[in-house]
Amino acid sequence: MPDYKTLAATIHSLTETETDEIALMATIACEVHHSDDRFDWTGFYRVTAPELLKIGPYQGGHGCLVIPFSRGVCGAAARTGQVQLVPDVEAFPGHIACASSTRSEIVIPVRNGAGQLIAVFDIDSNQPDAFTQEDSEGLSAILASVFTRGPNAKDVCVR
Ligand code: SME
Repeated sequence: MPDYKTLAATIHSLTETETDEIALMATIACEVHHSDDRFDWTGFYRVTAPELLKIGPYQGGHGCLVIPFSRGVCGAAARTGQVQLVPDVEAFPGHIACASSTRSEIVIPVRNGAGQLIAVFDIDSNQPDAFTQEDSEGLSAILASVFTRGPNAKDVCVR
């Protein structure tokens, strides 16, 4: 289990002056991926059109390029706005297997300061039942602190 406080502090210091979403996503994917051996694929799918996710910055083997909201664990996270903690991907109807080695995963919706869904953050593990509530909370806190600050947060005030 990563020390999520330390990981959050590292990511904050690396990204605090940056506002570009792709630069932020690339840095988070890298830092999170290398923080724990359970994480075999770590990355973002971005909302690029209504009901559509497209691959964003990631670490690991290649992922599917496009995922509609109607499909897979990532689609379920985008559709429901809820964290998807999947202990056994084979038991999840419609799971998209980009790597046959994947056994479990967690997908977290990512919102900007205006509350709009901009992406989902997906971590896949080759270990069964790899993710816990502590991962969900630690990762959600990091994503919220990075993507709800800065110009997006100011946008809320002027609208
Ligand atoms: N796990 C995802 C598919 C994306 S890849 O595994 C990188 C899903 O079922 O949504």
